[in-house]
Amino acid sequence: MTDGTTSRAATADRTDNTPAARVVDLVKDFGGGVRAMDGITFDIPRGELTSIIGPSGCGKTTTLKIIAGLAEATSGRVEVNGVPVTRPGPDRAFVFQDFALMPWATVLRNAAFGLELRGVPRKEREEIAKEYVGKVGLARFENSYPHQLSGGMRQRVGLARALAVDADILLMDEPFASVDEQIRRRFQEDLLRLLSDEKKTVLFVTHSIEEAVYVSDQVVILTRGPSRVSKVVRPGVDRSGGSDSIRRSPEYLDWVEQIWSELQSYLET
Ligand SMILES: Nc1ncnc2c1ncn2[C@@H]1O[C@H](COP(=O)(O)OP(=O)(O)OP(=O)(O)O)[C@@H](O)[C@H]1O
Ligand SMILES: [Mg+2]
Repeated sequence: MTDGTTSRAATADRTDNTPAARVVDLVKDFGGGVRAMDGITFDIPRGELTSIIGPSGCGKTTTLKIIAGLAEATSGRVEVNGVPVTRPGPDRAFVFQDFALMPWATVLRNAAFGLELRGVPRKEREEIAKEYVGKVGLARFENSYPHQLSGGMRQRVGLARALAVDADILLMDEPFASVDEQIRRRFQEDLLRLLSDEKKTVLFVTHSIEEAVYVSDQVVILTRGPSRVSKVVRPGVDRSGGSDSIRRSPEYLDWVEQIWSELQSYLET
C-alpha cells in the first residue's frame, strides 16, 4: 500500500488540516418505524475525494441530502467548516442521482441554473455555464434540450451545473450510474482532472467498488440499514502509472478485495 504521498490529495493546495465537513452521529427516522441511519460518523477531508459505498437503501442519498441541507436529521449533526448545517448554502453543490434537469430549458440554462438561483446576472451566468458545458464535453449541445440527450450526457449537464456554482464541496449521488463502462471510465478521468484543477472537496456515492477504489482518497463503507459506518479506508492508489496499469496493480486489486469482503459480510447476514 502507498502512504498516500502520490495521491491527488497530497498535491492539493490545502491551507489547513481541518476537515471540510464532519458528519457526527447522524440518525434519521422516517416514521412508521423506518430508521435509515443509526449513528453515522465520519470526516470529509478538505481537497479530497471521499466515497460512500453500502447496500441499497442504507441511507447514502439521505446522508448526502442532510449534508446539503435539503433534509433534516432526527439527531446528530453535520458541520461544514466548523459550522452546523441547517439549510442549503453556496459552499455545497449537489449532483442528483436522477439529474434533476428542467426539461423545458436548454443545456446552457440548466447548467446555469445554480447561478440563476444565486441571482447571478444572465450574461455572466451564461458565460460561466458555457465554460463548464465545454469542460464536460457538451459544447455542441448547449442549445439542446434534456430529452435530446442520452442519460450520460444529462449527467454531464448535472456535473456542469454543480461545477459552475463554484461550491467548495461537491456532493455527488451516483453521478455515473447510468452510463456504459467506457464512458464511465472517461468520466472518472474527467472528474479526477477537474478536481485537481479546481481543488474541490468531493463526497461521492457509488455502488461500484472498483470506481470507489479508483477515484477515492477515502472510502466510507456503510452497513445495511439502519446503517452505521462499518469501516473507513484510504486507498489513495498511486495514479502515476496511467489508468490501465492502475487497474491491474496488486495494490488496486487488494483494495477492491478488502472492500468487497467488508461489504459481503453485511450482504450475506
Ligand atoms: N422520504 C422518505 N420517506 C420514507 N422513507 C424514506 C424516504 N427517503 C428514504 N427513505 C427510506 O430510507 C432508507 C434509505 O434511503 P436512501 O435513499 O437514503 O438509500 P440509498 O442508500 O441512497 O439507496 P440506493 O443505493 O438504492 O440509492 C430506505 O429504506 C428508504 O426506503
Ligand atoms: Mg441513493
